[in-house]
Amino acid sequence: MTNTTADPPAGLEDRPARVDLEFQPSGTRVRVPPGVTIFDAASWNGIAIDSTCGGHGTCKKCKIRIDGGSVPPSPLDARAFSPDELRAGWRLACRAQADGDLRIEVPPLVTRPKAATVGVGRQVILRPAAQKRYLELAEPSLSDQRTDLERVLDALDDLELSVDLAALRSIGSVLRAADYRVTAVIVDDLLIDVQPGDTTARLYGIAFDLGTTTVVATLLDLTTGTPLAVASMLNKQQPVGADVITRISSIMMESFTLSSVADLAHQTLSELAAEVCADAGIDPADVCEVALAGNATMIHIALGIDPEPLGVAPFIMAARQLPEVRASADLGLPVHPGARAFIFPAFGAYVGGDITAGLLASGMDRDSRTRLFIDIGTNCEIVLGNRDWLLATAAPAGPAFEGAAIRCGMRAADGAIEVVSLSPAGVELRVIGDAEPAGLCGSGLVDAVASLVAVGLLDRSGRFVPEAEAAIRAPGLAGRLTMLGQERVFVLHWLAEPGDVARSVYLTQRDVRELQFAKAAIATGWNILLQEAGLSPGDVQQVLLAGSFGSYLSPANAIRLGLVPRLPVLRVVSAGNVAGEGAKMALLSVRERAGALALQEEVRYVELSDRADFNDAFVDQLQFPE
Ligand code: FES
Repeated sequence: MTNTTADPPAGLEDRPARVDLEFQPSGTRVRVPPGVTIFDAASWNGIAIDSTCGGHGTCKKCKIRIDGGSVPPSPLDARAFSPDELRAGWRLACRAQADGDLRIEVPPLVTRPKAATVGVGRQVILRPAAQKRYLELAEPSLSDQRTDLERVLDALDDLELSVDLAALRSIGSVLRAADYRVTAVIVDDLLIDVQPGDTTARLYGIAFDLGTTTVVATLLDLTTGTPLAVASMLNKQQPVGADVITRISSIMMESFTLSSVADLAHQTLSELAAEVCADAGIDPADVCEVALAGNATMIHIALGIDPEPLGVAPFIMAARQLPEVRASADLGLPVHPGARAFIFPAFGAYVGGDITAGLLASGMDRDSRTRLFIDIGTNCEIVLGNRDWLLATAAPAGPAFEGAAIRCGMRAADGAIEVVSLSPAGVELRVIGDAEPAGLCGSGLVDAVASLVAVGLLDRSGRFVPEAEAAIRAPGLAGRLTMLGQERVFVLHWLAEPGDVARSVYLTQRDVRELQFAKAAIATGWNILLQEAGLSPGDVQQVLLAGSFGSYLSPANAIRLGLVPRLPVLRVVSAGNVAGEGAKMALLSVRERAGALALQEEVRYVELSDRADFNDAFVDQLQFPE
C-alpha cells in the first residue's frame, strides 16, 4: 500500500481533521488544523502578512480578504473595517479562524518583514517575542500630568502592555536622566525595561539545546536573525549519571538533592551564556529572550520539578506545557532580569521538548510526504507521519549506541573508531582525531556489525560463524575472529603485537547482542507505528536520522542492520541538530513558537510498554534482515 497523498491512512480515527487554505496571489495551498488563525497558517508556511503587533490584535495591519469560503467577522473587524468592506470579505488575519476551506487574498506588504534562514534551510519570518521601541516623549508639565508609565504606554498604543515592577522602579529616573528619549523593552505583552537613549540595535536571544550529554548555546541577533556565536560543553550533571534514568535514581536515592542537580544545569547554561556573549562582544544584559529545548527529565530537573514520576511506571510528567519561566530568576542565567525563557512542551515522559523542537525544524507537520523521524540515543524517539497525522513513540534502546555496555565502547571522542569498513581482504578504520584507536563509538559499532554481516562473518541471528566457514568467506579477516577467554571476538585493531587480543580493540559476541537488542527496540517502535497507521515500511518516503548520533550513522549500514526500513539509501538522510534549530526558530518568531505548541494537538503518543504485541515484535526484530 502506498500512501503518498494527503489522505490519512486507516486506523487513525482520532487524527485531527484539516482544512485547505489557498493564498492569492501566490496560489500557495496549505492544510492546517481547523481553528488555526489565518495569520498563523500563513506565517507557518512562510507567507508574509503585514503586522507590527505579531498577531496580538492591536496593530490592525493584518488585513486580508476572504475570497472563497466564509469567516464570520470578529468584534475587532467591526472597528477595523467599514460595513461595505466587511461585506466584501475583509478581515483581520490574526482574528480570523479557519474553520473550513478558504481562498484568501493577501494584499501586498506595506513593510517588508525581515526573515532569517535557519540551519535546516527553513525561512523564518522575524517576529521575536522581544522587541525594542525608541521613544521621544513630551516632558511632563502642569497641563500634562500623565504618570511616567502613562507617558510611555501612550507612545506604544498599538500594544496592550502590562508592566514589570522592575521597570517601574527605574522608569522615573531613566526618563529624567535621558531627557525623555528612551527605549522601551518589551517581551510578549510585558514592558520589562525602559532604557536611556536608543538601544534598539542591541536585542539578542540565546537558543539552548539542553541535552543529557551535551548542551549547545547559540546567540542570535534578534534584529536580523543572524547567529553571532555558538558554544557547547558537556552537561555538568554527568557525574550524577550518564543517562536520564540514572540521574532520576540518584535524586530518588538521595545521592544528590534535586536542587544540587538543578544547580548543575544552571551552571552549564550560565557558563555557555557567558561564553557566547563574550565571543560576540555583547553585554549579557541585552539578551532579552531565551528558548530551551530538552528532554522531559532535563527540563523537570532544570526547573526544580521532582523528576521521580518520570522514572517509574506509568511515567507521568508534572505538566506538558510549562508556565512562564524567567530566564534569570528561574534558570539562573546572567541575562536581562526581565528576560523570559520559552520551554518547548513535551509529548510524553520519553518524547520530550527536544523532539517537539526537532519536528518544528524538520517541518514534519507541514510536509505531504510520509516521513519517519528517528532520534537515536539511550532512549530513542520515533515519529511517523505527514501534515495530516503524526504518531510518536519512545523505544528503550539502551546505552549501546553511546558506546556503553560495549566491551571496547567509548563516547565519540578522540581515539574512537567512528567508521569501519571490511572487505574479505582487510579492515579500514576512521578514527576521531586521527589518533591511535582506543575504542569503538556508536557509529563504529553499527558499521562494524553491518560489515561483519555483509562479509558473512556474522549470520542473520547475530552469531559469529565457525572458524572454518570464516576462512572460506573472508580469508583476509578470518585471523581476526578469535577467542578471548571463553568468548569469541573480532579484532578491529591490534594495539600491541598481532595475537595479543586482550590489548586490542575488539568486538565481542555479547557486544553484537547488545546492538541487536538496541536495534530491535527501535525497529519494533517504528514497526508498531506503521501498523497503527496501516502502512508498510515501503510507504515511508523519507527517514530523518536526528541528533548527533544520527549525523554520523551510515544510512547504508542502518538499512543493512534493519535499524531503519529497507528503502533506497538516498531516502535515509541525516537531519542534523534539529532540536537546536527548532530552538532558534522559536526564538526568532512567536509564530513558530505557536506552531510548536500546536504540535501538541497534532501528535498522538503511542505507549509501547503496555502493548501485548511488543515482546513478539521485539523478538522478530532481533534478526538482521536478509
Ligand atoms: S497582526 Fe496586528 S492586528 Fe492582526
